[in-house]
Amino acid sequence: MSAVYETPRPETSAPPRILIAYYTYSGSTGKLAEELQRLTGGTLTRLYPSQPYPSRFPELLEQVRREIHSHHYPRLLPVSESPARYDIVFVGTPNWCGSIAPPLAAWLRQHGGLAGKTVLPLYSHCGGEPGNIAGAVRSLCPKAQVAPVFAARPDEDDLAAKLDAWLTACGGLSAISV
Ligand SMILES: Cc1cc2nc3c(=O)[nH]c(=O)nc-3n(C[C@H](O)[C@H](O)[C@H](O)COP(=O)(O)O)c2cc1C
Repeated sequence: MSAVYETPRPETSAPPRILIAYYTYSGSTGKLAEELQRLTGGTLTRLYPSQPYPSRFPELLEQVRREIHSHHYPRLLPVSESPARYDIVFVGTPNWCGSIAPPLAAWLRQHGGLAGKTVLPLYSHCGGEPGNIAGAVRSLCPKAQVAPVFAARPDEDDLAAKLDAWLTACGGLSAISV
C-alpha cells in the first residue's frame, strides 16, 4: 500500500520535503494543520484570499455557493512557500458546501494541480453534508497521487492519534516524516 502514495525519489536522496498548505476561515482547519505539523515536521503555509470573505454567515454562504458553482478562483495574497520545492503536499480546507474552499482550489490551480506530487487532503467539517472533497481535489490534481482524505470535526477527540492512523494508512508515518 505504501508504494501507491510515495513520490518516487532517488535511492540516495534526503527524506521527503513536506508542505502543509491550508485555508481556514474560522480556525479549525488551522488546528488540524498545526497538529499535522507537529507529527510530520512539515512546513506550514496558510492561504489568504486577497479579498476577505464576508463576516456574516448569510453573505458568506451566498458568496461561497456562487464561487463553487461558477468555478471561481479567487485571487490570493502571495505566499513565500512554493510547492515546487516539496515532495509531499498536505492540503487542508474547511468543507464548504460539500466541496473545498475556493482559496485552496485557486492555489491548486495556480500550481498546476501539483502534478507529480503526493497530495494528502484533509478537511474540517461540522458533521453536515459530506459532499465530495476527495473528488474536488482529484479533479484539480489529475496528475498528482492523491491519498485518501482525512476528515475531522473541530471538537474531534484523539486528533493526534487519528491523524497518525491516517498517515499510517497512507503509507506509514516513517515514510513521510522528516
Ligand atoms: C459557507 C459554509 C459552508 C459550509 N458547508 C458545510 C458542509 O457542506 N458540510 C459540513 O459538514 N460543514 C460545512 N460547513 C462547516 C465547516 O466546514 C466547519 O465549521 C469547519 O470546521 C470550518 O473550518 P475552518 O474553521 O477551518 O474555517 C460550512 C461552513 C461554512 C461557513
